[in-house]
Amino acid sequence: MSKAQKALDPKPREENVNFGLDDKARETIAQNLSAILADTYALLVKTHIYHWNVVGPLFHSIHEMTEVQYNDLFKATDEIAERIRALGYRAPVVGNKGHDIVIELGAESKTAHEMIEDLISEHESTIRKMREAAEAAEEADDFVSHDMLVGRMTIHEKTVWMLRALVTD
Ligand SMILES: [Fe+2]
Repeated sequence: MSKAQKALDPKPREENVNFGLDDKARETIAQNLSAILADTYALLVKTHIYHWNVVGPLFHSIHEMTEVQYNDLFKATDEIAERIRALGYRAPVVGNKGHDIVIELGAESKTAHEMIEDLISEHESTIRKMREAAEAAEEADDFVSHDMLVGRMTIHEKTVWMLRALVTD
């Protein structure tokens, strides 16, 4: 194999991470973050679909609010994936606990209220997953993942408040 071929065909190397985290805990945290990455992607796509297809008197509010949300979710996917890389794993972590992304492309056929209720429920289930992952990260002294997750939860919880305020009489 020529040098050029070698450069184009790099072998994935074992990434030796040695910054004081237990190896098993590091793997578990990376797996948890992969599940959260999948959820964040699914929520990003759904939020975008609702942004395009919402109709009715709430159109303007939901259209504007979802634009802020999908931009934030897109940045979040990068932040979460790069944390997985910093932990020494490929993003997303696949294998025995693979996390397939289920994207509901038929999500557009809902009323504005149903869209908001659905987004609230998706954000809340993501927050619950993040809370467990943040606890596990803190227990393993992975303060960086813990802080990132707390930051993400802060945004998701605020988003749930705003979504709920839109559809509460
Ligand atoms: Fe747009």
